[in-house]
Amino acid sequence: MAAQYAFACKQADLAPGEKKAVEIGGHHYCIYNLNGIYYATDDVCTHGLSSLATGEIVGEEIECAAHFGTFNIITGKVTAPPCSIPLKTWRVELRGADVFVET
Ligand code: FES
Repeated sequence: MAAQYAFACKQADLAPGEKKAVEIGGHHYCIYNLNGIYYATDDVCTHGLSSLATGEIVGEEIECAAHFGTFNIITGKVTAPPCSIPLKTWRVELRGADVFVET
């Protein structure tokens, strides 16, 4: 079945190096702009219930604000404990000035 996408935000909402949480259909995503390329992951850290959008982007990684575990934003792989479960990543599609995320 073809992937479904939903509007997440405007490209202009996120400057390079920025991220934001968006809720679509009750699911919490974090959308990132890494050097002009947009990515999406789950917003909820797999270690706890912290929103990754409140964390810090370091290179290609997101550092959780709660206990400073990190994930690779592009692959979702854990890059530092205490996280041990990978983060779900989602495909992103740009449509005009809009950012759509796989749902
Ligand atoms: Fe994210 Fe603990 S809740 S590292």
